[in-house]
Amino acid sequence: MVDLATRWMGLTLKSPVIVGAGPLSQDPDAARQAVEAGAGAIVMHSLFEEQLAEEQMAAHLMIDALADHDAEAGGFLPAAAFSMDGEGYLAELAALKRAVDVPVIASLNGISAGGWTHYAGKLAAAGADALELNLYDIAIDFTEDAAAVEARQTALVRAVVGAVAIPVTVKLAPTYTALPAFAARLQGAGAQGVTVFNRLFDPRVDLDALEVQRHLELSTPAELPSRLHALAILSARVPGLDLACSGGIHAGQHAAQAIACGATVVQVTSATLAHGPDRIATIRDGLAHALDAGGYRSADALRGILNLDRAPDPTAWTRLNYVRTLDGWRSILNQRT
Ligand SMILES: Cc1cc2nc3c(=O)[nH]c(=O)nc-3n(C[C@H](O)[C@H](O)[C@H](O)COP(=O)(O)O)c2cc1C
Repeated sequence: MVDLATRWMGLTLKSPVIVGAGPLSQDPDAARQAVEAGAGAIVMHSLFEEQLAEEQMAAHLMIDALADHDAEAGGFLPAAAFSMDGEGYLAELAALKRAVDVPVIASLNGISAGGWTHYAGKLAAAGADALELNLYDIAIDFTEDAAAVEARQTALVRAVVGAVAIPVTVKLAPTYTALPAFAARLQGAGAQGVTVFNRLFDPRVDLDALEVQRHLELSTPAELPSRLHALAILSARVPGLDLACSGGIHAGQHAAQAIACGATVVQVTSATLAHGPDRIATIRDGLAHALDAGGYRSADALRGILNLDRAPDPTAWTRLNYVRTLDGWRSILNQRT
């Protein structure tokens, strides 16, 4: 019997297989089902900076309106100005906490340090066991260079961490020039974990309609290797940072690979949406089987065994691997001719 118990950012989880951010958390019954299937924690869908900014705007409107009119003037306010997104999210969090007995991680999604970050404190007060801060940033300003983007994001992380006493993991895009250095800087700003990676939902171009269209499809395991690469490097180079793998976990083998590369937990979103919350049990059991087959008595024993420091050939994670891989193709082509 292998031991799947895991410590993640100070939280004790019964399993490192957890539900990743997405719509499942909006349905307490589905979340309960995922937990019954063995999920060690639930990450909620995100509350967006834009939603909170709207809410703040609504609050200002109300204050202005009340200043202009008498005490009954509240009745003049357009109902639509009151976006209850933030409050609705708190209610959802409370419902989720009642439904499950595992840690619930609230998700904030934003890129600028500002008034909205005080919501982190509200989420903690409402019972969130941790926060995941999703930095979904798209660079469109040519005057803001990479160093400035990272400085802004680090300041945001510091502000969110400073607003709460619960642990914070930062969900990153796969596109940083120097990921280990940036992750270390986030750790310095107080983040206890990093989640690799954010999935970038790139729009599609429709030439017939002459439109740029939103596009969402579920992941496949093809997304896993880029995560494994980052995990292998970060787990070796940024000690003490708890790593979550998000992207391409569809089977127990994938979970085992991520842990071998240094993940503390694996987050599962697409697989639960495609196959239902019970898919967590398949992945959890597959992980246990992989550990057993490899002679590992716990997930901890496997963790990081193939990372940049510990792999039998660490150059497999470096530039040298690129050179050899291309070389390998050449010899395959040579064999064919
Ligand atoms: C329908 C859907 C909704 C999602 N919503 C969120 C979200 O609210 N916040 C977030 O950080 N990630 C969100 N994600 C991204 C997932 O958390 C995850 O990072 C990504 O899908 C890769 O993991 P997977 O291969 O297990 O799906 C969403 C993904 C999908 C497919």
